[in-house]
Amino acid sequence: MDLSTTSLHDFTVVTNECVADGIWRMRLSSTVAPLIEPGQFVNIAVPGDGSHILRIPLSFKRADAEAGTLELLYATVGEGTRRLSAMREGDKSTLVGPCGNGWRLPQEPGRALLVAGGIGLPPILAAARMLASERVGFDVVIGARTYAMHVLPDAEEVLGYGQADGAEYDPDRRVILTTDDGTTASGELGRKAYATDGMSDLMAERAYSQVYTCGPTIMMASVAHMAAEHGIACQASLERMMGCGFGACSCCNVELVRGGYALCCQDGPVFDATEVVW
Ligand SMILES: Cc1cc2nc3c(=O)[nH]c(=O)nc-3n(C[C@H](O)[C@H](O)[C@H](O)COP(=O)(O)OP(=O)(O)OC[C@H]3O[C@@H](n4cnc5c(N)ncnc54)[C@H](O)[C@@H]3O)c2cc1C
Ligand code: FES
Repeated sequence: MDLSTTSLHDFTVVTNECVADGIWRMRLSSTVAPLIEPGQFVNIAVPGDGSHILRIPLSFKRADAEAGTLELLYATVGEGTRRLSAMREGDKSTLVGPCGNGWRLPQEPGRALLVAGGIGLPPILAAARMLASERVGFDVVIGARTYAMHVLPDAEEVLGYGQADGAEYDPDRRVILTTDDGTTASGELGRKAYATDGMSDLMAERAYSQVYTCGPTIMMASVAHMAAEHGIACQASLERMMGCGFGACSCCNVELVRGGYALCCQDGPVFDATEVVW
């Protein structure tokens, strides 16, 4: 983490809309947009009555340096995120960022496999854009508890990533959606499957040199295990309860295999999956 670039920025809400069951997409304009890298996060202050003092750490799905905008996807799980969903176009607040270390490009040539679970989607979408802009082929598995929680426009958008210049270089890109309860687009019950089942299916068909994952810890632990079994490098974006977001309060420990702890906000949130005690 380069603390010299982490600072307080103002932001203004451009749009804020509900895009799936309990999931919102916010576009904000902020001077952080040209500074932030895929996989890094921002720590947002939500205006309120002062009872909610902690900022909310959020990843982003897209930073547009030219437009000066950042796109977030967030689930409303508590008081802070519910208040965030009440912010309207033109509302202003502050954020701290860019925070943490982002995704690294694959060390080995070959295809990448991206596995998102639930609201782990935004940093995976940012990774997909990064890979597309570097002409790295990839496939994506996105898991949700139920079909209504899939952010469909954003999932479908992945198929077009990297084609702005008109160059179609990855016609084989696959995007697989899974649901824990087997619900489907038609409303009929389909296969009950976790994101890791989609990962198994793709790994049986294709060879990968790098896995990127973000989602519930239990899912990432399985993804890390499966990648290790196949000898594939794996980067995982971890979540911890956070206070400051820049290494000052020591409340976001990640236990390491080599012993000791790292700080999720400063040394992560992206870690080499083999370094983490799952
Ligand atoms: C680096 C990082 C990136 C994140 N990116 C996103 C994102 O892109 N989209 C998104 O929806 N969420 C993301 N989160 C989680 C998000 O920060 C929490 O959901 C949010 O802070 C909850 O605040 P709240 O006040 O609404 O809920 P609270 O009332 O504080 O908590 C509600 C529930 O959420 C749990 N929770 C709170 N904070 C966290 C946290 N930091 N990690 C895990 N669980 C938590 C609590 O244990 C509780 O069960 C990220 C977290 C981290 C650490
Ligand atoms: S959140 Fe304060 S040290 Fe990580």
